[in-house]
Amino acid sequence: MSLRLGDTAPNFKAATTDGDIDFYEYLGNNWGVLFSHPADYTPVCTTELGKTALLADEFAKRNVKVLAVSVDPLDQHKGWVNDINETQHTIVNFPIIADDDRTVATLYDMIHPNAHATQTVRSLFIIGPDKKIKLIITYPASTGRNFVEVLRVIDSLQLTANYSVATPADWKAGEEVIVVPAVSTEDAIKRFPKGVKVVKPYLRYTPQPDVD
Ligand code: BEZ
Repeated sequence: MSLRLGDTAPNFKAATTDGDIDFYEYLGNNWGVLFSHPADYTPVCTTELGKTALLADEFAKRNVKVLAVSVDPLDQHKGWVNDINETQHTIVNFPIIADDDRTVATLYDMIHPNAHATQTVRSLFIIGPDKKIKLIITYPASTGRNFVEVLRVIDSLQLTANYSVATPADWKAGEEVIVVPAVSTEDAIKRFPKGVKVVKPYLRYTPQPDVD
């Protein structure tokens, strides 16, 4: 059965470009991004892994551990990493799982047979420190993902985990947020001392509570 938001992310052991790992041990108490790509030595995947490496400081700032996966073998991953580093002007600094036996692809339902019989699609899971799945996105092989959007979602997830707020369309860190419907306006005024703007009884904004 496929995984859904709120499910526990299955643990696994895997061989990676950084050695053998236990997924939960690798994550520790951090947030996690586990993402699959169809195949090594392919152009879109090369840019995706390069972009992820270039954003390393942004992931680290948010306490996020990144982990890539495809069904290609380890020696192939290692050779391809040299190409990514060369062409994307970066150093791949996160492990890539060699999922030859499809353990991870099967656990996370990353092979969609009507898209491709054997390759993983572009699945991406964001996992919280509680090991619950917070976000799932699935892109086709032909469309590279937007990793700045992934960071934006992480900002939203981390904020909304700590405050009774939600983030509006196209929100970016630092912008005003929405008071969740479960909080009354009277209560919101107490909880959010920076102010509450009531546009409709159900549409109330407040400045992002965790920034000065
Ligand atoms: C790519 O990463 O460029 C790619 C992989 C599989 C199919 C199409 C494109």
